[in-house]
Amino acid sequence: MKIALPKGRIAEEVLEIFKKIFNEDFIFENRKLIMKKNNFTFLNVRNWDVATYVEKQAADIGVVGADVITELDSDVLELLDLGLGKCRVSVAGIKNDNNYKNKTRIKVASKLTNIAKTYFSKKGIPTEIIKLNGSIELAPLVGLSDVIVDIVQTGGTLKENGMEEKEIIMHSSARLIANKNSFILKKEEILALTKKIEDAINGA
Ligand code: PRP
Repeated sequence: MKIALPKGRIAEEVLEIFKKIFNEDFIFENRKLIMKKNNFTFLNVRNWDVATYVEKQAADIGVVGADVITELDSDVLELLDLGLGKCRVSVAGIKNDNNYKNKTRIKVASKLTNIAKTYFSKKGIPTEIIKLNGSIELAPLVGLSDVIVDIVQTGGTLKENGMEEKEIIMHSSARLIANKNSFILKKEEILALTKKIEDAINGA
């Protein structure tokens, strides 16, 4: 079974769960992108690409944030909320400045352009969406946008930059996902692993 994991902290936490289940170390050696162990092949994938690997069946299952699944509108099965990597997707802006609410067209900077577009259009609010790739918080500070739509985890980045969360769009956390064909072909194996992961998380 091929498992796509997002690089970084979430991958480490998921591999810890595997260690707990199988009582063996699961570690990506220095810059290796593939790790084979027991019947598993782990793929070291960029966070934003996990859903793509799973959707296209390059991996059978994977771990990815609900924010990414929503943004990409991924055609995958969601098996389990792992409760890791908890964060919010929020509208944020300069502290105590709510002028954006009076604008006829709000300038919104974001990496999550689909989530931003859908959120404001459901409210019937016209927007100009400005796609950025990182350091989104900078945009309102230099007048590139009125507000941002971004991930808020601790709120530290906003605070450090004189900004605040204005509206929560969605809550996100890491999800175990499966390719739809893989789920049909390997249903028992995938469900058994899902159960083991769930038990490990719940300390059973
Ligand atoms: C994310 C997000 C915020 C920050 C939120 O950025 O875009 O900038 O984390 O975390 P906090 O609420 O705990 O401060 P990331 O570190 O992924 O970098 P980026 O600027 O490339 O998006």
